[in-house]
Amino acid sequence: MNNRVRFLLTVLCALQLVVPSLQATGGRIPAYARNGMVVSASEIASETGRDILQRGGNAVDAAVATAFALAVTWPSAGNLGGGGFLVYHGADGRVTAFDFREKAPLAATRTMYLDENGRIRNNSNHDGLLAVGVPGTVAGLFAAHKKLGSLPWAELVAPAEKLARKGIPMSWAVYQHTKSEWMKAYFEKYPSTAKVFLKKDGSAYEPGELWRQPDLAETLARIRKHGRDGFYKGKTAHLLAKFMRENGGIITEKDLAEYEAVERKPVHGTYRGYDIYAMCPPSSGGVALIEMLNILEGYNLTAIGHNSALYLHLLTEAMRRAFADRAQFLGDPDFNPDMPVEKLLSKEHAEKLRSSIDLFRASPSDSARFNQRYESTETTHFSVVDKQGNAVSMTYTLEQSYGTKIVAEGLGFLLNNEMGDFNAIPGLTNSRGRIGTEPNTIAPGKRMLSSMTPTIVARDGKPVLAIGSPGGRTIINTVLQVILNVIDHGMNVAQAIEAGRIHHQWLPDITSFEKWAISPDTQKLYENMGHRVRFRSIQGRAMGIFIDHESGIISGAADSRSPDGGAAGY
Ligand code: DON
Repeated sequence: MNNRVRFLLTVLCALQLVVPSLQATGGRIPAYARNGMVVSASEIASETGRDILQRGGNAVDAAVATAFALAVTWPSAGNLGGGGFLVYHGADGRVTAFDFREKAPLAATRTMYLDENGRIRNNSNHDGLLAVGVPGTVAGLFAAHKKLGSLPWAELVAPAEKLARKGIPMSWAVYQHTKSEWMKAYFEKYPSTAKVFLKKDGSAYEPGELWRQPDLAETLARIRKHGRDGFYKGKTAHLLAKFMRENGGIITEKDLAEYEAVERKPVHGTYRGYDIYAMCPPSSGGVALIEMLNILEGYNLTAIGHNSALYLHLLTEAMRRAFADRAQFLGDPDFNPDMPVEKLLSKEHAEKLRSSIDLFRASPSDSARFNQRYESTETTHFSVVDKQGNAVSMTYTLEQSYGTKIVAEGLGFLLNNEMGDFNAIPGLTNSRGRIGTEPNTIAPGKRMLSSMTPTIVARDGKPVLAIGSPGGRTIINTVLQVILNVIDHGMNVAQAIEAGRIHHQWLPDITSFEKWAISPDTQKLYENMGHRVRFRSIQGRAMGIFIDHESGIISGAADSRSPDGGAAGY
């Protein structure tokens, strides 16, 4: 770096010592409540969860109701046919998590997507019925409710059933999706999908028009009556397996009957006196998040200043290192018993990584083991806090927007394409986007590695922040930056969510910025350290709730990047 740049950087850092943040943060005001709150990607779903809280339900009850409602109101990601993770922190200090990640079908094989030349056949790990993992959502919600819920199960499913049966106003966002060229192609290919999203004459529902989903209502009715078995056995399982059989899929009734959600211990770390509880493997989210926080704890980020060049440099270097570890070590714990999770979470490991960071120079991402695949934002996160101060942070997904875009005939819900999260070509990791590391190769019954990062930050044994986001691998970095914005930069939860974000994932060695996250002069300084920059429109759609235990005030914010999102408190 030449002296002029070094001088400029020093001046900038000094300035930021005096003026803590030169960067606009959006200045949004959170929604406030005293008793409880739900924040999700759909205002209707948040209100559904809030109603459950008002009726005396706890945070898990509200989470179950919100998740089922999202499957009706936010179908690009809210789901019955996908999977996800729920992290819980009780007011009593109890912490746990539920893993309901999809599993590879029993007939899956290590190289099932490859042609004779070792290439992926027709994008078949993302497109078509072979891309579907055995869904986990209903089992996960059922397991969480069984362990921690308080209201009867049926009362939590019923509101979503009603939304599907009576109809909801078509939202602008879903309308725009149904009118898009890419959805049109799927409507032509899959009449069972068109039947859900279009009117009988094949035209789209106009925004505001009543949109009913009768098949989905029937599926929800079976889940309401029979719980987990209403999905994994009986008519739903039978129709799903039949649809698979008749259309080239491999999920069978046995796959469905055998699916189990797992209660797991969230990973735990500390950051500047706060406890961080986040999802453990098979999500990489919690491990990578805590690893980055551990590295960054060694710097005075408050003084360095939000989104200053030096700050962005340090974040990038932490991301680079955590994502390298992610790709090398992480996968389904049931298939990788020797993953070095404790080591990756340790302060010693972070110290070692931190000591390899040059304060003024980007490190090389010199391994060809990894690559960047830009992912859409179609997963969905919601956060819940109840009157007792229990908190839930839950992220679930169909993988890409609307998953495979395939609705199984007669069932009314979309199927995921989560199999695409496995490393499809074992052993092939290249700079063009392929990761082939062993921990995340395909095996029957195995869960694919995720980046979903539902997280709860606690202080003195009580939850203070529930946070998460969609966005594929960017999720981890989005959650990281929201947490830093709250703890290091003193932002309220709305400002923390609104502030511009960046993403780096080791390789290719490039940092993506949201369009307004960086000023041209800061960009110059950052690039002069050796970083490459590209821009993206948005990164993630975070949903967060903050609890101020002193005042008893709960504040929440739905990301304004989320078209239908909303906070509902009381
Ligand atoms: O589990 C994961 O990390 C991804 N399947 C999440 C996907 C997502 O956030 C939406 N965009 N790709």
